[in-house]
Amino acid sequence: MPAPPTDARTGLATAISVAACGDDGFVLRVRPDAPYPPIRASRFFMLRREDGSMPLVPRPFSIYRQLGAELEFLVKQMGVGTRALGALRPGDRLRVTGPLGNGWPALEPRPDEPWVMLAGGIGSAPFYMGIEQALSGMDGRPACRPQDLALLYGAARKGLLYDIAAFRQLGVRTFTATDDGSDGHRGNVLGLLEALQQRGELPRRVRLLACGPERMLEAVERHAMANGLECWLSLESLMGCGVGICNGCPVPTRKDGPLGAWSNAKCCVEGPVFSCREVELAHGRGS
Ligand SMILES: Cc1cc2nc3c(=O)[nH]c(=O)nc-3n(C[C@H](O)[C@H](O)[C@H](O)COP(=O)(O)OP(=O)(O)OC[C@H]3O[C@@H](n4cnc5c(N)ncnc54)[C@H](O)[C@@H]3O)c2cc1C
Ligand code: FES
Repeated sequence: MPAPPTDARTGLATAISVAACGDDGFVLRVRPDAPYPPIRASRFFMLRREDGSMPLVPRPFSIYRQLGAELEFLVKQMGVGTRALGALRPGDRLRVTGPLGNGWPALEPRPDEPWVMLAGGIGSAPFYMGIEQALSGMDGRPACRPQDLALLYGAARKGLLYDIAAFRQLGVRTFTATDDGSDGHRGNVLGLLEALQQRGELPRRVRLLACGPERMLEAVERHAMANGLECWLSLESLMGCGVGICNGCPVPTRKDGPLGAWSNAKCCVEGPVFSCREVELAHGRGS
């Protein structure tokens, strides 16, 4: 039975700042009472305000940046919980549980087969540290060079490309796509990938990492499976407990895949990052 990671803990933190970001987002910076060792990108924390102004069930957020003893979260306002987090004032207290989940795999460089990171909207959050960690080397593997990576960031419109300037400063090739054409390619990130491949700016053989809305991830999964590409998806399923108890985060597994003995995996403890060979997001949707 999968269990929560052994390095996860629950503690209190103090809000440092809430900085508006994009049309409907913010960057929340907190200082946990006890600092965390370096955290792998695409792991997550469950957050809840301590003053009772937020639902009892905490909400999950990817680690966006780790700056010494402080943690940052890039948050899109969705409902009651994210609104309450956005209203935090410096000095307010919150409960943080984490780091939870597995995080991105080690991103090894491979000549002529770059890692292409596909971000959709707020799904960019796990990529900031993902790029930093790939460029500095992970798990003792060689570091990627900037040309071994590309970020393709898509959103409905320009104002939902959260913190795009900060992503550009990481020094890897960054391309944008918007549904309305207000920034970069008009269309989605898979259309952008195809356009870049047609122009010879990216090779046909790429390795994919993706995080974004469910329908986007389903399309990425289909594309990867149809083209035999290595592909890792970071899922943002609804969650209850975040630690494997409530069964509130099922992800359909691929029958012939390594997790196929069970029809569902638990996103919180077996994910949130899954290989396309493990899960079948489009299950039952005629893919
Ligand atoms: C592992 C993980 C990492 C995440 N990382 C981030 C992150 O870095 N930044 C960020 O902004 N969000 C992230 N999310 C999503 C975030 O947890 C939800 O947006 C949040 O829980 C919404 O809480 P709320 O109380 O504001 O919304 P609620 O009041 O609970 O819901 C408001 C509306 O939003 C919908 N909704 C709630 N959660 C989701 C979701 N996950 N996907 C689609 N619709 C949803 C509800 O169905 C409802 O319609 C992550 C989720 C997971 C599981
Ligand atoms: S969120 Fe409770 S089991 Fe995954």
